[in-house]
Amino acid sequence: MTPTLSSTQVSELTAHYTYGTWRRQKGWAPLHVVDAEDCHFVDANGKKYLDFSSQLMCVTLGHKNRAVIKAIQDQAEKLAYVGPGWATDVRAELSEQLLDVLPKGLEKFFFTTSGTEANEAAFKIARMVTGKTKIISRYRSYHGSTMGSIAATGDPRRWAMEPAGKIPGVIFAPEVNCYKCPIGHTYPGCAIACVEYIDHMVENESDVAAVIVEPVVGTNGVLVPPKEYLPRLRQICDAHGVLLIADEVMTGWCRTGKWFAVDNWKVIPDILTTAKGITNAAIPLGLCATSSKVASYFDDHFFSHGHTYEAHPLTLAPAVASIHEMKRLKLNDRANEMGAYLGEKLHTLESRHPSIGEVRGLGMFWAVELVKNREKKVPFNTYADKVNSKPLLVDKVAARAMGNGVFIQAWMSHFVIAPPLIISKQDIDYGVAVLDEALGLADAEVEKTA
Ligand SMILES: Cc1ncc(COP(=O)(O)O)c(C=O)c1O
Repeated sequence: MTPTLSSTQVSELTAHYTYGTWRRQKGWAPLHVVDAEDCHFVDANGKKYLDFSSQLMCVTLGHKNRAVIKAIQDQAEKLAYVGPGWATDVRAELSEQLLDVLPKGLEKFFFTTSGTEANEAAFKIARMVTGKTKIISRYRSYHGSTMGSIAATGDPRRWAMEPAGKIPGVIFAPEVNCYKCPIGHTYPGCAIACVEYIDHMVENESDVAAVIVEPVVGTNGVLVPPKEYLPRLRQICDAHGVLLIADEVMTGWCRTGKWFAVDNWKVIPDILTTAKGITNAAIPLGLCATSSKVASYFDDHFFSHGHTYEAHPLTLAPAVASIHEMKRLKLNDRANEMGAYLGEKLHTLESRHPSIGEVRGLGMFWAVELVKNREKKVPFNTYADKVNSKPLLVDKVAARAMGNGVFIQAWMSHFVIAPPLIISKQDIDYGVAVLDEALGLADAEVEKTA
C-alpha cells in the first residue's frame, strides 16, 4: 500500500510534476484541497474556505450536489462510453432539456469536453457555413486556450502565441466598458459608439464569418453592456450576413439571473457556446449550440468536425441532472434575489475604500475593480505586470482574504465575485466582511493627492 503523503509532499509533487496554469512555474505552492461541500472547500489542515467565486465561476449549484453525483454514478453503471456515432438515451434526454432552456431557435448541438473546444467548434462551423474566414473578437475577452480560441482571446494570455502560434484571421474590436471606455466615450451620449465601430469593421473588412462576444465579459471584469448593445450587434450581424456567437461559458446556467445572459436582452445568437456550470463542473462538458439555419447547411454538406469523446454519455448525464436541479431550486430567482443582496453589500464598500474604482454586476455575477487613482481610473497593475510575473496588488488582497477563510478570484486589478447560487445571506455577509477588511491593503497603496 502506498504510504500516505503529507500535505507538504502532495503540494510539492503537484508543483514539481504538473503544470500550474497561466503562471510562471517557479514559486507555485498549491494549497492541498481535500474536500468541498455546498459553498465551502476544505484544506488538508481542516481549514474551511468560503468559495466566493465558485472556483472558476463554475460550481453553480454548490459543491457535491447529490443529484449530479448520483447521475454520474448511475450513468457509469449503465453505459459509461460509446462512440459519438451512436444514439443514447442520455443524448436524447439532454437534447430535450436543452431545447427547453436555451434561447429559442438554437436546436442542434455539438458536445465537447471544455469551453475552449466549444469555441473551436463554433469557429469551424461559422467558417464552413459562411464560406468566410474572419472572426471579430474584442480586447477584454477570454475564449479559451487552444490555437483558435486563444487567437480570439483579447487578454494577454494570447501574447505568448503571437504572431504564429495561433490561427490567422481573427481581428479585434474595442470592448464595451462604460466604466473606462476604450475609445474615450461616455454612455449614453456615446450612442454606443463601440458597437458602431464593429459595424465599421465589418463594412471595411471583407470576409467576416462571425463576431464572438461574451454577453457579459467574465474574467476580464464582469463588464455588463448597456441595454442597446447586444440588440444593435444582432442587427449589425444580420445586415452583413455575419454570424453572432455568444460565448456563455461563464455567463450561462442562471449566473446572471437568466438561463443565459443573452436572455437579459432577448437576443438570440446564431451559435451559443457554454461549459462550466452545465454539469456544475463535476464532469468536463462543453456545448456548441447552433440555430436550425446554421445546422441546415450541414444537411447536404460534410460536417468536418468531431472528437472521440463527443457526446460522451458520462458527461451528458450530469448535465441532465444539473438542469433539473437548477429548475427545482429556482436558481434564476435565487441569482436575482441573492445577487441583488450581494450587490448592495458590495456597493456599501465603495464609500469606505478609496481603492475601489467601481462595483458592477448582474445577477450573482459581480466585479470589484481596484484603482490606485480613482479620478483617473488608474489600475494597480497592468496586463504586462501579469505576464511578467510581477506581484499583483489584487493577489495580495486575495491572499489576505484566504487567510481569513474566503476564496476570491483576482485578475489584474479586479475581483470576480460569483459564489454558488445556493449561497446564504449569512455567507454573503461573511465574504463581504472579509473582503472589506482585506481591502485595507489596497487603500494603503492608493496614490496620495498632493
Ligand atoms: C468566456 C469563456 N470562454 C471560454 C472559456 C474556456 O473554457 P474552458 O476553460 O472550459 O476550456 C472560459 C474559461 O474560463 C471562459 O470564461
